[in-house]
Amino acid sequence: EFQVRLASSGKTYTIPADTSVTDALREHGVEILVSCEQGVCGTCLTRVLEGECDHRDLYLTDEEKAANDQFTPCCSRAKGPLLVLDL
Ligand code: FES
Repeated sequence: EFQVRLASSGKTYTIPADTSVTDALREHGVEILVSCEQGVCGTCLTRVLEGECDHRDLYLTDEEKAANDQFTPCCSRAKGPLLVLDL
């Protein structure tokens, strides 16, 4: 598991190992628009301000993944303990 912090509210949420970021946040009333939920469409694309992404999508290019400033929270995760999202 890892933590996700929302930049706007400063609130931090735990993302369990078996739950996507979008599903975990939705349980706390934080909605991120999704469509495919498989990392294909890019609908859920979210800016990342801090932390290292574990990209698991097929949407971003390798260059975009390396830039580490956005990720697809329907399927991608964190490599470290915390991601700060521009939400
Ligand atoms: Fe399609 Fe996340 S909902 S990439």
